[in-house]
Amino acid sequence: MNDLSIARAVHTLSIVVWIGGVGFVTAVLIPIIRRTSPEKEQLSIFNTIENRFALIARFAVALAGVSGVYMIYILNAWDRFNDIRYFWMHAMLLLWLMFAFALFVIEPFFFKNHGRIIKERHGITNLRKTEIVHWIIFIMSLATILFSVLGAHGFNY
Ligand code: HEM
Repeated sequence: MNDLSIARAVHTLSIVVWIGGVGFVTAVLIPIIRRTSPEKEQLSIFNTIENRFALIARFAVALAGVSGVYMIYILNAWDRFNDIRYFWMHAMLLLWLMFAFALFVIEPFFFKNHGRIIKERHGITNLRKTEIVHWIIFIMSLATILFSVLGAHGFNY
C-alpha cells in the first residue's frame, strides 16, 4: 500500500501549493494592489505577478490530477462517481477541470497576457471583477478540501 500513500502525499502537497497560492492571490495580493495602485495600472501589475504563479500552478494541477487518477486506479474507485454519497469526488474532478481549462487552455491560447482580451474589448483595467471571481473559486476550493478530507477518512455522508 506504499504506492497509495505516496500518491496521497503527492496529491496533498500539490493541493497545498496550488490552493495556498490561490488563497494568497485572493486574500493578500489583489486587495493590496487594489488599495495601493492606480486603477489603470492594477490589471497589468496583477498580470505580471500572476503569470509567474500560473507556471507553478500548472505544475501543481498536473501533479494533483495524475496522483488523483492513480489513487482511483489503485483503490478501484471508479464506481464512486455513480454514488451521490461520494459527491466530494465529483467536486474534486469539477474543480480540477475548471482550473485545468483556465490554466492550460484559456490563459495560453486566449489571454497570452491574462485578461488582455477582456481589457481591450471592455476597457477593464481595475481588479474588481477579478477579486470577486477569485473569492468564489477560493471558497469552492476550501469547501472541496474540507469535504474530501472528511470523505477520504471515513466520514459517513
Ligand atoms: C482529477 C482530479 C482529482 C482526482 C481524480 C482526485 C482523486 C482523489 C482520490 C482518489 C482521493 C483519495 C480518496 C480516498 O482515499 O478515498 C483524493 C483525496 C483527496 N483529494 Fe483529490 N482528486 C482530484 C482533485 C482534487 C482537487 C482539485 C482537490 C482540492 C482542491 C483535491 C483534494 C483532495 C483532498 C484534500 C483529499 C484527501 C487527502 C487525504 O486526507 O487523504 N483533489 N483525491
